[in-house]
Amino acid sequence: MKRILVLGATTGIGRALVLLLRACGYETIAAGRRQAHLETLGGETLTLDVTAPDAVQRIADLNIDTLIYNAGFGERTPMPDAARTEQALQVNVLAFERFAQWALTHCRYFVATASIAGIRGLENTNGYSASKAYMINAMEGYRRKARHGQLPCHYITLMPGFVDTAMGQASTFWRCSPETAAKVIVRGLQAQQSVIYVTPRWRLIALLLRLLPRALFEWLPIQ
Ligand SMILES: NC(=O)c1ccc[n+]([C@@H]2O[C@H](COP(=O)([O-])OP(=O)(O)OC[C@H]3O[C@@H](n4cnc5c(N)ncnc54)[C@H](OP(=O)(O)O)[C@@H]3O)[C@@H](O)[C@H]2O)c1
Repeated sequence: MKRILVLGATTGIGRALVLLLRACGYETIAAGRRQAHLETLGGETLTLDVTAPDAVQRIADLNIDTLIYNAGFGERTPMPDAARTEQALQVNVLAFERFAQWALTHCRYFVATASIAGIRGLENTNGYSASKAYMINAMEGYRRKARHGQLPCHYITLMPGFVDTAMGQASTFWRCSPETAAKVIVRGLQAQQSVIYVTPRWRLIALLLRLLPRALFEWLPIQ
C-alpha cells in the first residue's frame, strides 16, 4: 500500500483508520461529504459524495494504489422504510459497485467495509443487512475475478460486528472502539488477509450465523 484513499473518513471507523494509517507512515487521503470534519482531520482531503454521478471520475487522477470503500448508510427502523432502504442501496450497493468495478483495473487493493449484519436477514435493519449481503457476495466475486483473470487487484472485505460509532449503537455486545477497529484493520491489511473480522472473535459469530438452520434463526430474537 503506497497511496491510500479512504471514502467515508469524516467520522467513526474511517476517521480512526485515516489517523492510524497516517501515524504508520502511509500517504492517506480522507474523503467524505462533511467538509468541516475533513478540515479537523487535516492532511490531504477530498470532499466527495460517493453517490454523485461523477464520483469515480473525481478520484481517477489521484494516483492511488489502495481504495478503501468505508462509506455506508444504515438506520434501524421498527417498520420497513422505503426511503431509508433506497439510501442504503444507493450508498452500500450502487456507489460501492461503481468503485469496485473501477478498482479492478486501476488499484492494487480494494477494501470494502461490509458487516456481520450482512450474513443473515435482520428485521429492524432489513435494507441495510440486504445491502451488506450484496457487498459480501460482490467482494467474493471480484476476488475470484481478479484471481482467475490474473488481474492485479486484491479485494479485501472488512466484517465489523459492533463498533462504537453513530451507526453502532444497537448493542454493546463485543463492541469495540473505532481506534481498536482501526488497529485490527491495519494489522489485517498488512497481513494481506482477504476477509478481516473486526474484532477477530466476530469470526465465530459469523460462523454460527452461517450454520444456524433457517427455522432456528427465524425464531431467535436477533434484531
Ligand atoms: N459501527 C458499527 O457497528 C458497524 C458495524 C458494521 C459495519 N459498519 C460499517 O462501517 C462503515 C463506517 O461506519 P461507522 O460505524 O464508522 O459510522 P459513521 O461514523 O456514521 O461513518 C459513516 C461514514 O460514511 C460516510 N458516508 C455516508 N454516506 C456517504 C456518501 N453518500 N458519500 C460519502 N461518504 C458517505 C460518512 O461521511 P459523510 O456523512 O461526511 O459523507 C461517514 O464518514 C459503514 O460502511 C458501516 O456500514 C459499522
